[in-house]
Amino acid sequence: MRVLFVCLGNICRSPTAEGVLRHKLREAGLAEQIEVASAGTGPWHVGKPPDSRSQRAARMRGYDLSAQRARQVAAADFNRYDLILAMDQSNLRNLKLLQPAQGKAELDLFLRRYDGAVEEVPDPYYDEEHGFEQVLDLIEQACDRLVIELKGRL
Ligand code: 4NP
Repeated sequence: MRVLFVCLGNICRSPTAEGVLRHKLREAGLAEQIEVASAGTGPWHVGKPPDSRSQRAARMRGYDLSAQRARQVAAADFNRYDLILAMDQSNLRNLKLLQPAQGKAELDLFLRRYDGAVEEVPDPYYDEEHGFEQVLDLIEQACDRLVIELKGRL
């Protein structure tokens, strides 16, 4: 089973989701069975590590994002991944434009499936430090539910 998180730059939200889900899958003993990755719809930060503010906020909660490098989502991802989860509506719209007719991946808005109250993970890039904490709060909650769903799908 393969899961891909997608945001705009692949330096704040989706790398955080990748790090959090990987950590929770390891805790649940599912790390070997589920592959997790992230990508951005935009090209600007390709090759860069996650934003230092995202890395710092994640490190404070025990998640290490330092080995990740940004990449741009590609049409081939729709055949490699089973589940592609967009951080906001704009990401989802861009993914739908890129989605090949034959792609196997199920495409959805991350929080619509796993939270309910809030639909989008807000873009923290131009925000203050607390924006990164809010991103982590939303992602941690949603990943707890995602782990349960993934366990049921294995
Ligand atoms: P992300 O945040 O999509 O969560 O990685 C952003 C990172 C960079 C930019 C926008 C959002 N940017 O405009 O460069």
